[in-house]
Amino acid sequence: MVENIVVGRDKPDMDKYGEVGTAFLGKHIVGKGEDAHLTNPVLMDVTRPHVMLVCGKRGTGKSYSAGIISEEIAVLPPEIRENIAVVMFDTMGIYWSMKHPNERDKDILKEWGLKPSALDAKLFVPKGYVQEYEQAGIAYDSTFNLVCSDLSAQDWVLTFGFSFVDEYGTTIERVMKKLKKKGNYSLQDIIAAIEGDEKTEKRVRDSLVNRFSAAESWGIFDREGTKIEDLVKPGTVSILDISHYIQVSSSWSVRSMLVGLLSRKIYHARSLARKAEELEVMTGETRKTMPMVWIMIDEAHQFLPTDGKTAATEPLLTLVKQGREPGISLLFITQRPNKLHEDALAQSDIILAHRLTSEADLTALRGIMQTYMLDDIQEYINTLPRKKGTAIILDDNSERIYPIQCRPRKSWHAGGSPIAIKDMGILG
Ligand SMILES: Nc1ncnc2c1ncn2[C@@H]1O[C@H](COP(=O)(O)OP(=O)(O)O)[C@@H](O)[C@H]1O
Ligand SMILES: [Mg+2]
Repeated sequence: MVENIVVGRDKPDMDKYGEVGTAFLGKHIVGKGEDAHLTNPVLMDVTRPHVMLVCGKRGTGKSYSAGIISEEIAVLPPEIRENIAVVMFDTMGIYWSMKHPNERDKDILKEWGLKPSALDAKLFVPKGYVQEYEQAGIAYDSTFNLVCSDLSAQDWVLTFGFSFVDEYGTTIERVMKKLKKKGNYSLQDIIAAIEGDEKTEKRVRDSLVNRFSAAESWGIFDREGTKIEDLVKPGTVSILDISHYIQVSSSWSVRSMLVGLLSRKIYHARSLARKAEELEVMTGETRKTMPMVWIMIDEAHQFLPTDGKTAATEPLLTLVKQGREPGISLLFITQRPNKLHEDALAQSDIILAHRLTSEADLTALRGIMQTYMLDDIQEYINTLPRKKGTAIILDDNSERIYPIQCRPRKSWHAGGSPIAIKDMGILG
């Protein structure tokens, strides 16, 4: 009998739960080059909080692999599934296709004993962009929006790329302080307050008004924000398409603001839920609670970079350092591990590394695993068969490394690069 390999689960949990609540990622690759063949299934714990890093060069299968984990969480036994929710920050606008079965790879799936199947995910799109989806014929489930007054002066300063000590930053702080007293306020209120702020030079006021007016075109602010309970739903994969704002000069800042604010809200809601859960255990009374969350972020180095600070930096660092307690798992996807904040790297306990060649990135990985790395990571990566979806998985728990072939996806993956040859008719 072929035994399964389980990563991310410690011995006590293994003894108690066995393989229940794990995700089937792929198969262990044994042998090198021509002789390489697939052996034991590789499973990964998804029931405890983790910080997972998925890295690799462009087109090696990172986004695809994150999709596998979402698919797996969605098919856990109902009694486990209802305690877990997935929130995917879709920076590339590719995950909507998961709502469709992967008919394209029917044959490969069959080889793996799997069948195409659609994921019952919930697609959230920014309110201001619904028309684009309707025109493209993409069905979405809900819109998402933020309440302007949930953002702090700091959020705005970081989003606009000002400094806390320049005249822009200080004006924003002063104006927001006044508005905070008012309670709920809108973008228009901020603009009016800036216009009426006599202490500030006109030049600065005009520039700020410009920025805040531009924020209206992002199409994400409203009187009421998306409720966290709608986003974080038991057994549900919520996909937030934040791929827009390309036309906005600082598109990553807008996305960072979104990721930052929602991460903060999820952390807060889960911290409260954790207390309710403790009380439930103590008193035996059932209380309304919220499932544990897996937050997945593509292009994570844009939100939590090594150098500099974004509006998502602090909220994400809080999750990295303190997310275990409220039961929040993070899955960071990046092609540049070297550019991802060192705390995120250091806290990663499961690493799925697809092909990587840059010395700086390999060094970053080595840095995390040095305590038990005997062989060189590069060796492992170099001997991977040159196929899509091959990777090494580093498990901090067992302190082991496995070369694996990730399984094919059951739901459609829209992230592949287009093939120009086909368009030219060469492939007929
Ligand atoms: N496990 C896999 N099995 C089969 N094909 C895969 C696998 N992983 C990736 N691929 C293929 O590679 C392409 C690129 O993967 P993707 O995840 O979009 O790359 P990136 O690393 O840039 O996020 C996919 O469109 C898919 O065709
Ligand atoms: Mg990708």
